Amino acid sequence: MKKPLVTIDGPAGAGKTTVSREAARRLGYSYVDTGALYRGLAFVAAGKGVGPDDQKGLARIMANLTLKFEKDKKGDSRLLANSRDITDHLRGNEVSMLASAVSALPAVRQWLLDLQRNLGRDGAAVFEGRDMGTVVFPQARFKFFLTADPAVRAKRRHAELVAAGREIAYEKVLADIITRDTNDSTRAVAPLKPAPDAVILDSTKKTVDEVVESILALVHEIHE
Ligand code: DC
Repeated sequence: MKKPLVTIDGPAGAGKTTVSREAARRLGYSYVDTGALYRGLAFVAAGKGVGPDDQKGLARIMANLTLKFEKDKKGDSRLLANSRDITDHLRGNEVSMLASAVSALPAVRQWLLDLQRNLGRDGAAVFEGRDMGTVVFPQARFKFFLTADPAVRAKRRHAELVAAGREIAYEKVLADIITRDTNDSTRAVAPLKPAPDAVILDSTKKTVDEVVESILALVHEIHE
């Protein structure tokens, strides 16, 4: 029997990346960060001077762009844009805001839909994003919605940016997280929301390990 898909959706800074990566590692599944695809498009567009409001410019870019994940020697996933490794350019705050803006466009979501479904066709994967359980893989066997208080999410994201050597005030990170929450959950197409059959996990007072344990407990209980 084909191994199942696990989807983990939720707002920025809820801990999806760390949790998804660890859950995938412990399950022996692959891990797919779909936010990286939106970030990748936003980064490439910004490099060509195309902003999120320029739909024609974005259409031209999408027509000539192939995004692909590849594993490096350590087994970490890298994102290639027409063969150029852009992974190290994706996590900055500016790219986050641009990614949120381009992700509201139906043409962008459509462009990434087949690519994401293709990546999930063999099962045995943990997909992280905003609409994994609602739109991209509505048939996924295990769906989670990971959330946390905005202040806690901003604190985590701020620590991550500072650790990466980026200077930014906590207040700015909090304000941007709130803007992104609003953008991502109020857009017309595939807004951020829990699938009706998703298990909601609140990580405000939980460690990564505790959240991962809750996910694995459910996957093992139902699947084995
Ligand atoms: O998960 P992330 O912070 O890397 O995602 C960056 C932006 O991309 C996020 O603000 C909204 C968008 N996104 C989306 O709309 N759908 C997804 N499945 C993943 C990300």
